Amino acid sequence: MYKDQILKRMNERHKDFINSFTKELVVHSPGRINFIGEHTDYNNGFVMPTAIDKKIVFSFQKNNSEHQCKVYSTTYDKMLDIDLTNVQPSEEEWENYILGVIYEISKITNKVKGFDCLIESQLPIGAGISSSAALECGLAYGLNTIFDLGLSNIDIVELSQRAEHNYVGTKCGIMDQFASVMSLDKKVILLDCKTQEHRLIEANFDPYKIVLLNTNISHSLASSEYNTRREECEKVVQIISKENKNITSLRDISINVLDNYKDQLTATHYNRASYVIEENARVLQASESLENGDLNRFGQLMYQSHRGLQHLYAVSCPELDFLVDFSEDNAQIIGSRMMGGGFGGCTINLIHQDAIEDYLVKVKAAYKKQFNIELTSFITVPSQGTSIQA
Ligand code: GLA
Repeated sequence: MYKDQILKRMNERHKDFINSFTKELVVHSPGRINFIGEHTDYNNGFVMPTAIDKKIVFSFQKNNSEHQCKVYSTTYDKMLDIDLTNVQPSEEEWENYILGVIYEISKITNKVKGFDCLIESQLPIGAGISSSAALECGLAYGLNTIFDLGLSNIDIVELSQRAEHNYVGTKCGIMDQFASVMSLDKKVILLDCKTQEHRLIEANFDPYKIVLLNTNISHSLASSEYNTRREECEKVVQIISKENKNITSLRDISINVLDNYKDQLTATHYNRASYVIEENARVLQASESLENGDLNRFGQLMYQSHRGLQHLYAVSCPELDFLVDFSEDNAQIIGSRMMGGGFGGCTINLIHQDAIEDYLVKVKAAYKKQFNIELTSFITVPSQGTSIQA
């Protein structure tokens, strides 16, 4: 965004900041989509995400002070003042992503000195496209570059995840940060979250396009339910591993082994675990389907994933289910499912390129009639992860 556009919108008292800002470095940090493999990452399972062409843009300048920093967000029109010698969690959630990253970096190195940062986001918040990982990773990437910290991309991924655990309080898996940093243009990542081994698969979806439908719903219970799901999965592992010492996560449990313990588990615990085990298998099948060009099979697996998330893992909501139901009998939409943590956000859809326009008109009208909420949409493409702009 141009300086004068930002100036027009911003609070009077922050204008000096923009006027005196000289960009030394610009970093783009994208949001991500995930084709399949939801709530599997923190169970050491498989996921299939990639970065998208919407991003957060970070501009940095060193300010020559020892430990004073200013971070300005155009989204919130708010300035965060930071003293590097006294970094503490804040009441404001967006600030904790920033503070968390700075805190995690300070545990590794003391090379960060005073800096200013301007953050302009194109990512809708709460849409399930991980604006949070983009925020963490873009900041970490930028600081790594201007202060020459010597961190690897994986260091950036992992410290950003720790920032979210320790400062924001969401015990997220590794998928979002990994996708935000490690993605490549026109590729999809098949990531094994247990070993971090990954394979890049050509994103050949022609003649289908990736369409995100945003419910514009984001429930505040998402974060607490997220941590609850994680605990439920851990509980199953705890019970089964008593007699099987080699089992450390749901990744190590087959459906047959789970069935042997069915009477020691509550129905809820059984459902959660069976979903994760089935979803891991679906990711591997989906990666094969994509590599073999079998897009119909790929799409069916997306639908199955959604039904598991809806009925067994219980992280969907009526708005997401409505969108998936609406698409299911339409032959032009080969796959559709909720994406991300759940309880709102977007569905990801594979829609034939010739049918998109028509479908959007229909689904937006139906959604509006049902919920009296505007459905928003955008077409996206697999894109490069966090990177420096020349
Ligand atoms: C959020 C988390 C990820 C992952 C997804 C669900 O986006 O940040 O780690 O668990 O939910 O798949």
